[in-house]
Amino acid sequence: MSALTESSIWKSLEQHFAEIKNERMTEMFKTDRDRAPKYTIEACGIRLDYSKNRISEKTMPLLFELATHCGINTKRKAMFSGNKLNITEKRSVLHTALRNVSGSPIKVDGIDVMPGIQAELKKMRDFSKKVRNGKWRGFSGRRIRYVVNIGIGGSDLGPQMVNEALAYYSDGPQTFFVSNVDGTHLAETLKKVELSTTLFIIASKTFTTQETMTNAYSAKSALLAKFNGKQDAVRKHFVAVSSAIDKVMEFGIDPKNTFEFWDWVGGRYSLWSVIGLPIVLSLGYKKFYDLLTGAHEMDMHFLNTPLEKNIPVILALLGVWYNNFFGAASHAVLPYDQYLHRLAPYLQQADMESNGKSVDIDGKPVDYQTGPIIWGQPGTNGQHAFYQLLHQGTKLIPADFIMPANSLNETGDHHLKLIANFIAQTEALMVGKNADSVEEELKQLRKKLMNKKLLTPKHLEYLIPHKIFQGNRPTNSITFKKMTPKILGSLIAMYEHKIFSQGVIWNINSFDQMGVELGKQLAKTVLEEIEGTERSERHDGSTSALVEYFKQNRL
Ligand code: F6P
Repeated sequence: MSALTESSIWKSLEQHFAEIKNERMTEMFKTDRDRAPKYTIEACGIRLDYSKNRISEKTMPLLFELATHCGINTKRKAMFSGNKLNITEKRSVLHTALRNVSGSPIKVDGIDVMPGIQAELKKMRDFSKKVRNGKWRGFSGRRIRYVVNIGIGGSDLGPQMVNEALAYYSDGPQTFFVSNVDGTHLAETLKKVELSTTLFIIASKTFTTQETMTNAYSAKSALLAKFNGKQDAVRKHFVAVSSAIDKVMEFGIDPKNTFEFWDWVGGRYSLWSVIGLPIVLSLGYKKFYDLLTGAHEMDMHFLNTPLEKNIPVILALLGVWYNNFFGAASHAVLPYDQYLHRLAPYLQQADMESNGKSVDIDGKPVDYQTGPIIWGQPGTNGQHAFYQLLHQGTKLIPADFIMPANSLNETGDHHLKLIANFIAQTEALMVGKNADSVEEELKQLRKKLMNKKLLTPKHLEYLIPHKIFQGNRPTNSITFKKMTPKILGSLIAMYEHKIFSQGVIWNINSFDQMGVELGKQLAKTVLEEIEGTERSERHDGSTSALVEYFKQNRL
């Protein structure tokens, strides 16, 4: 047994779960008129109503005790101070320094990292200004109209999500993101741009990632073909974002046009760094700075607020409650905001790459569940797709409902309808519908029918169980007034700290990603085999047969 599951607080939670597991939230609301305000908090312009959760008066104090027991207070301080929390890779975890708009010193190995961060920010600001105002020109002297970011994972999902979320505020070149090694991604993107007015950003911390480098070299070939092989064109149309300057130079990019970041910035936490270059190019530096400011405000909230009023900590603990005690395997992210349509894919990497671990920080196998499966889609689309399972399926799926009170595109009554759906869904998931109500509804319906044969008493009886909604399904309502760069910064930082807090409770390293390596290694071997002529006997029967199938069926 692990120290976590052996701890007395864990056992108290297990016992409490046994007491509360069948209690209904609707009853809790009836007996406590103050339940909604009691479980609603606000910080950084974000309001969290977590009253529609399966928690009683006893639950949260026990969960806060768990967080304290697991060392959340020391660990959150340690992260902000630059301690090497990423033990396996012996690295600090300092995405919070990237948005430390206060400028106060933060040291790694005794050296203040803030001057370096500020220098890169300035470089990004100056560069983007030149591109946006037309001083930076392409090889043929034309102004830049398109930006194509070539990167994958953290070098793609973060800036892409932000550019989509803040598209309303964009007044710069049109940005595209190419990530997939599937040549279709690049080919279809190149159809939408004009090469002589396109700037490519090669975004890769390591500058070795197979997908990114394959796309980067193909884009370079396309550009060289356009400019009759003139190598100088590369310097006008390619910039890099990387920590591997030597490899960038090898590619042919001018080191002056390379934006640097450090090993203490994890890929999935890097949008705040120069990886945010496509954001700055699209929105301008001022709005990027607002994004950083919003994140910094959430950082300060997370660092300094007692656990009882701390939004990321509360979200983390609720997640642990369902994941580890109710056995919920997944968590849905349901933004009622079309601009946030890339939030779920972004959070999939942020959360699942961070907390998808099965050994603790000491390398011992865990005997409890760690990170959940994160998934979701914007409402109302999801309502017409997978909400059936949320309402009537056999699985308990806690969900975050996220919504601004005001739309950036107020058109007729669209937004009021969106709000109505948001509220109705959280209510329906909690309240459900019992057999008596279903029966009454059906009887009323029957009364209205001219042809009573359409709903015979026998069929009415038969329909009842199909129309019952068990309810008691938990949701968080996360709302804010309007989507702005600052609010988005706070929202993303809120999730980052939620993920961190859960990692602290599960005693895992949330900052490495060794699980992505094996597939990468094997892909190299398989690539050699597919390119070669020899039949490979190195694999199991299925794998060898797949290799042969593709070799024989390539046209
Ligand atoms: O394969 C996973 C990963 O290492 C991510 O963690 C990272 O965000 C992504 O690949 C891209 O890495 P890089 O920026 O080095 O190309």
